Amino acid sequence: MKILFVCLGNICRSPTAEGVVRRFAPEAELDSAGASGWHVGEAPYAPMQEAAMARGYDLSDLRARQFVATDFARFDLIIAMDADNLANVEALRPAGNETPVRLFTEYAPQSGAEAVPDPYYTRDFDQTLDLIEDCAKGLITTL
Ligand code: 4NP
Repeated sequence: MKILFVCLGNICRSPTAEGVVRRFAPEAELDSAGASGWHVGEAPYAPMQEAAMARGYDLSDLRARQFVATDFARFDLIIAMDADNLANVEALRPAGNETPVRLFTEYAPQSGAEAVPDPYYTRDFDQTLDLIEDCAKGLITTL
């Protein structure tokens, strides 16, 4: 199963999702990307890395890249962190491609959340980690 996580900058939410899911499902082939190219080549945002490392998730090897249309053919499942990310991904879908694109929060319906909050703006890195862990647990039950 090849899964791509997508957020806006690819330095907070989607690399964290990748790092959390790879702990729970080490056999899955995972990657993450940003709808924007603002942080291409950068490691995850330092405060995000610190909050993740406090829970044992080492994100230091990850580097940001931008989502591209050819990702639709490379992955079995694309997971967006919020509705804007999902719309940005869908806008690049090649004609005839049927790769599913889902919101990460669909895997944690009990949370009541409709999006993974962007800690770059909220500054609440633990809130985002809590929800990502819940979504990751739901996701792996479907693999
Ligand atoms: P992310 O958070 O989409 O979870 O990586 C953001 C990081 C940086 C910016 C926006 C969102 N930015 O505007 O630079």
